Amino acid sequence: MARVKLDEVGLWSEVKLEIVRKYASAYSTIIKSFPRIRRHLYIDGFAGAGHHVSKTTGEVIPGSPAIALRIQPPFSEYHLVDLDSGRVAELRQFAQGRPEVEVYEGDCNRVLLDKVFPRCRREDYHRGLCLLDPYSLNVNWQVLATAGRMKSIEIFYNFMIMDANMNVFWKDPDGVQQEQAERMTAVWGDESWRSAAYTKQRGLFGEIEEKRSNAAITKAFQSRLQDEAGFEFVADPLPMKNSRGAIVYYLYFASPNSTGAKIVGEIFDAYR
Ligand SMILES: C[S@@+](CC[C@H](N)C(=O)[O-])C[C@H]1O[C@@H](n2cnc3c(N)ncnc32)[C@H](O)[C@@H]1O
Repeated sequence: MARVKLDEVGLWSEVKLEIVRKYASAYSTIIKSFPRIRRHLYIDGFAGAGHHVSKTTGEVIPGSPAIALRIQPPFSEYHLVDLDSGRVAELRQFAQGRPEVEVYEGDCNRVLLDKVFPRCRREDYHRGLCLLDPYSLNVNWQVLATAGRMKSIEIFYNFMIMDANMNVFWKDPDGVQQEQAERMTAVWGDESWRSAAYTKQRGLFGEIEEKRSNAAITKAFQSRLQDEAGFEFVADPLPMKNSRGAIVYYLYFASPNSTGAKIVGEIFDAYR
């Protein structure tokens, strides 16, 4: 039984977990068919407690680490990161007797770059599938850019558009707090989010900035993953909603492989 309070998750979180389960299973099977690949890692940057409570059924359901640990054929290594010490204790308990599972307490923005990604170098014939599933906008661009540059890592990434719209992409950009704008710069990688999110229009009293649509902003981020981070294949992101139908985040998948992108593209299309 969990010793920490489990998150209650809605239907769309269950959809996300189903997507991860489907792809992780296909990924592990395909990787295992290449004898040259020496190891493949499952990496969970925001692992959580391992389980959740389903809002739909009230039952305890597996979270992403529990799902990954059951994938067949198994991954060679599992790297689970969380900032919360209670959740980390829960993960450690649950990974007992599995020496291939490493649990880290810390900020995944550091842990992935310092400890996990270096175990996953293409030139060593290592590969990784990395889930970045935060509650808010707090994945630094450097993490995505490093994964893209390494050509050995595929990522699922939640871009929290609701957080962005509430705190940064305001109709009047002049009212946005400096620290919120800086947070977006860390997530986007530079200040080009300003031109991605706003277009300049000529108004009666000079130029005014008009906010672009969510679709335009997410397209711009998709292009960044491709052109700046260097992922060859980035699927059109899947809008993920809350129980009121509002889009909370866009689920991205980015990969150096066409096969992965094709499989995820088909999985995403089934849920659009
Ligand atoms: C949405 S939950 C993860 C759910 C999990 N991926 C699943 O599907 O079962 C987000 C988790 O990120 C953790 N977290 C927040 N900031 C973090 C950070 N900077 N580094 C690592 N973990 C963080 C929280 O403690 C929380 O457990």
